Amino acid sequence: MNLLIMGPPGAGKGTQAEVLVKELSITHISTGDMFRSAIKEGTEMGKKAKEYMDRGELVPDEVVVGMVKERLAMSDCARGFLLDGFPRTLPQAEALDDTLKALTIKLDGVINIDVPRERLMARLTGRRICKGCGASYHVLFNPPKNEGKCNSCAGELYQRSDDNEEAVSNRLDIYESQTQPLIDYYVKANLLKNINGDQEIKKVLDDVLVSLKG
Ligand code: AP5
Ligand code: MG
Ligand code: ZN
Repeated sequence: MNLLIMGPPGAGKGTQAEVLVKELSITHISTGDMFRSAIKEGTEMGKKAKEYMDRGELVPDEVVVGMVKERLAMSDCARGFLLDGFPRTLPQAEALDDTLKALTIKLDGVINIDVPRERLMARLTGRRICKGCGASYHVLFNPPKNEGKCNSCAGELYQRSDDNEEAVSNRLDIYESQTQPLIDYYVKANLLKNINGDQEIKKVLDDVLVSLKG
């Protein structure tokens, strides 16, 4: 299965993707995670991306599109993939269509995790991420079994540098102006599966799995 997962910052894309890719045996491709790896490795692209990310702005389309094109051509995508956080602009969506066409790959669905804006600030400012495996936790809504340590790899948990109020509020504004219009784009393509993301994590997952069968 070849899928996209979209939704505002903090909707739970990463949280759901982590379980979904295991459940469906497909490859998780998160553009945010790819940029964070590039930053950690200190590559030129990472240095450039960090400036945008820390302000809560989008990395320029040509940078992201080039990176995703290369990633989709890798062999582990042949078993199916879940793209998380891409596309986020209309030009990115069009570039994705062209890329998939060239690779003769068809999209099977677009999962849209819908959460009201007033819920998102608390989700993001309380989020903690595992240094080892990237798993997402929340100090109140999804705490790890041992404080500050990842359940699956015991890695140390940290707070993302763009999870402060200023950057989050920028990210939410940019989501509304640039990314939300893509919902319509995928409704027209008859691919959109709208999921209520304002429920318990497990219930959201169940709804996603049901929507993929239908
Ligand atoms: P990215 O890393 O993709 O960030 P984002 O879109 O802002 O989304 P998040 O990762 O913050 O949220 P999420 O939906 O994954 O939520 P999560 O599951 O962690 O991108 C970062 C930056 O990279 C961008 O700002 C941009 O600069 C750049 N970038 C990336 N892709 C790009 C692109 N295509 N074009 C241009 N630039 C790009 O959950 C959040 C919290 O909520 C967690 O604490 C979690 O435990 C909790 N939670 C999850 N589900 C629930 C629930 N159901 N109930 C209660 N709490 C919940
Ligand atoms: Mg994420
Ligand atoms: Zn971990």
